[in-house]
Parts: sequence; C-alpha cells; structure tokens
Amino acid sequence: MEVARTRIIKIDPVNPEEPILVEAAEVIKRGGLVAFPTETVYGLGADAYNRDAVRRIFEAKKRPVDNPLIVHICDLEWLESVARNIPEKARRIAERLWPGPVTLVLWKSHEIPAEVTAGLPKIAVRFPSHPVAMGLIRHSGVPIAAPSANLAGRPSPTTAQHVTQDLYGRVDVILDGGETLFGVESTIIDLTSEPPKLLRPGPIPVEDLERILGTQISIPDHARGLSEAEIAESPGMKYRHYAPETPLKLIEALDYHDLASYSAKVLEIAEEYRSRGFKVVILASRETCQIYVERGFEVIELGSRKNFYEIARNLFNSLRKVDELRADLAIAEGFEERGLGLTIMNRLRKAARHCRILV
Ligand code: TXA
Ligand code: MG
Repeated sequence: MEVARTRIIKIDPVNPEEPILVEAAEVIKRGGLVAFPTETVYGLGADAYNRDAVRRIFEAKKRPVDNPLIVHICDLEWLESVARNIPEKARRIAERLWPGPVTLVLWKSHEIPAEVTAGLPKIAVRFPSHPVAMGLIRHSGVPIAAPSANLAGRPSPTTAQHVTQDLYGRVDVILDGGETLFGVESTIIDLTSEPPKLLRPGPIPVEDLERILGTQISIPDHARGLSEAEIAESPGMKYRHYAPETPLKLIEALDYHDLASYSAKVLEIAEEYRSRGFKVVILASRETCQIYVERGFEVIELGSRKNFYEIARNLFNSLRKVDELRADLAIAEGFEERGLGLTIMNRLRKAARHCRILV
C-alpha cells in the first residue's frame, strides 16, 4: 500500500495553529491517515466510524488485523457513544486523570465498527491531553482510532522523525509537534473485570490507580512483560514489540540496592561477549554508565535511577539508537519494578524477549 505523497507539517505543540488543525481534520474526515503527537507517543489516526479508513491504519502499519486500536475522544460526553454499561469506576478515573495518559477498556457500543476492536466486544478509550491531539479530534468532530505511529514491532515513535522513518509514503499527513512528553504509551486498565486488570503499565503508576479506585488491581504476568497474553485479554500483547534489529539482552537483578556489584556483573557479561568478538553496546543508567565507558564500551545513557520519568522518556529513542550503532549485541540494565519502573521493565522485557538474564 502506497500513498502518493506524505505531507510533513510542523505544528506548535502548545498553541497549535488553527489552519493546520483544520487542514489535518479535513484529511481525517475524508478517510485519510494523520500521524499526530500525543503526550505519550505519536499516534496514527483515522475516523473511528469509517471502516475503510480504519482498515488503512492496519495496512500502513503492517499491523495484524486481530490487534485492536484505541479510540481517542476529546469530550467526556463522547464516552457514551463509544462505550456502554460504563461503570462508576470509569467515571472516577476519568474525573481524576482525563485528559491524560490512561486508557480504559470498557464494553463497546454498537456504533463503533468491529474493525476498530478487531471483533472484540470491548473497546479501549483514551482522552489525550496533548493540545494537538485534542485540537485534531475536536476539528474532526469524530472519535479518532489510533495506534502508535510505528511499523508493527518497532519501538513506538516519540518524535516526528521516528514516524517518518517508519511511515513516510504510507500515510497522508505527519503533524510534527516535536518530542512527546512521557515517551511511553498510556497505562491501560480493563474495567470490565473484577478486580480491574492492568493490561499495560504506562505513565500513570498502577499504585495511583489503586488509590483512586480504592481497590486492588490485578497485574497479570504479561503486564509485567513476562509472558504472552491470552488472546481474549489483550491481543496486542502476544506480538513482538519494541524490539531493535540488534539482539538485546536484559540483565535483571533481584534487587538493585547494591549497584556496584550489580554493574560489575553486567560488565562481566559484556566483557565475555566482547572477548568472543562481539561489538557490544550497553544501555545503562547515569549512576552506572561510567564503569562501562572506562572499559571502552559504547554506552547509551538512559537517565537517572532516581528519575524513572527520565528513563521512560529516553527509552524508545535509545532502542532506535541501538540499531544506528551497528553493534552485534545490546545489553540493557534492569530497573526496580516500582512506580514507573514497572512500565520500563515491561518495555525492556518485551524488547529483549527470550534474552533475560538474572544475576
Ligand atoms: O499512549 C497510547 O496509548 C498511544 C497513543 C497514540 O494514544 N497508543 C497506543 O496504541 O499505544 P497501540 O495500538 O500501539 O497500543 C494499544 C494496545 C495494544 O496492545 C492493543 O492490543 C490494546 O491496546 N488494546 C486495544 N484495544 C483493546 C481492547 N478492546 N481490549 C484489550 N486490549 C486492547
Ligand atoms: Mg503500539
């Protein structure tokens, strides 16, 4: 599938220019595809009511058709038109966290075509807070179905350049609003089950959601990045995700309190591969990167262990960088699974599938 021409249009991420929003909204209304920034990652949007447009999203991304899309709204009242039997819990989260980076899985309304949810009776709904995303949805006047704007299996895009790398010539418009804020995709929680279930950790920590709901949220293994999901639960989870072309090994510890001995073990593993002739690149925290640099390794610094937001924001860009360095092997440090640490480990484990080492 080829679109004749992709237009890349710069847009102010804080005060988006009205005429640009109007123009992009026209493309959505005509059934076209528009990539746009959200506060999490870039999305690839189409009119959620237009079956053909939704099918084009799957083609453009080469996304398996059984992997459902998130529907984006810009008005709480729209929730009633995309979902039904909406529980009180949904309203409580919406009130506190919308617009923002949390997605709710609810029962699907009949108006939304089956293509959007890959035939599932449930629908994932999100109300993004990015001014460009909100403006685009408002001007389009319809909910926008949008997965992350990357080719299937690639790291999610946090800049318009990432979108261009993957989708140039395959979409109509790319709105370039610069770097996204969180850099990881929204937290997804399924509210149709009791207790509510975390489907994907994201920028909103599960601990915060539990506080808002006043109940525990179940965290299945796949939400920790540990196993494949049941199809009925969240089809997307069973596919290869986020992975660079370069093989990635994730070195996990039971705890990360003794960083000196942890990084010494990571170094040992890296040196062993180097002695076998591998060119190794290491993804490391600011606190530990120096010891690898001193031994002559190429290091991509992810950020500080004291600021998981920083690490989350750098993560996908770093995974894309790995391939640019043309190494034979990438080795990534692990992080403690608390707060956003769960989000980071979910992405790293998926990127490193089959290559986890526990030290
Ligand atoms: O932050 C985000 O959520 C970004 C921005 C663009 O909004 N979007 C995003 O979409 O990450 P995507 O398609 O890359 O990831 C959505 C995930 C997929 O793993 C999909 O399987 C799951 O949500 N999902 C969508 N609808 C679902 C449903 N009805 N039931 C269970 N899981 C669903
Ligand atoms: Mg995605």
